[in-house]
Amino acid sequence: MVAVHVEPLTAATFDAAVGLEVTTEQRRFVASNTLSIAQAWARPSARPLLLRAAGEPVGFALVDSDPKTPRTAHLVRFMVDRRHQGRGHGAGGLAALLTHLRSQGHTEVRLSYVPGNTAAQRLYARHGFVETGEVDDGEKVMVLEYGAG
Ligand SMILES: CC(C)(COP(=O)(O)OP(=O)(O)OC[C@H]1O[C@@H](n2cnc3c(N)ncnc32)[C@H](O)[C@@H]1OP(=O)(O)O)[C@@H](O)C(=O)NCCC(=O)NCCS
Repeated sequence: MVAVHVEPLTAATFDAAVGLEVTTEQRRFVASNTLSIAQAWARPSARPLLLRAAGEPVGFALVDSDPKTPRTAHLVRFMVDRRHQGRGHGAGGLAALLTHLRSQGHTEVRLSYVPGNTAAQRLYARHGFVETGEVDDGEKVMVLEYGAG
């Protein structure tokens, strides 16, 4: 698997994150990183994260958690830049995110995807996410429970 590194977004990496974008066809699947960063600014619990491979910014994620249910992490946004897709960065990035979230004490990760986003759905299923059957704002909800050990 491609090694991807997860790091908190900072003022120094803001421009890099804003410059990462999906294809035109994929815009219906995920908000722009600019919007995600603005939303993170408005929510103290939200954490914008930059994904790097071989030192280069390749993707972005936004995670959040409700202080009332701290064991659950929400993967609110996840994207790989269009120029870096199809080379394992999505799989490597998701694996790195799951390790990161586990290290932060979360025992469960929830996310949702737009129906028809087959690439994302397959990627999540391959990493252990299962469908909950819930629909949130038109998106299908998946959950991953970390096993023991
Ligand atoms: C989903 C996404 C993160 C995958 O990133 P990536 O770097 O291309 O992923 P990888 O190269 O690691 O490939 C992961 C899997 O997705 C598959 N895949 C990637 N792009 C695909 C596409 N356009 N159509 C179908 N499958 C695709 C790969 O074949 C691979 O499947 P496999 O493990 O069965 O071989 C990326 O396509 C993306 O950013 N999409 C737009 C944003 C988005 O939809 N985010 C998810 C919101 S819920």
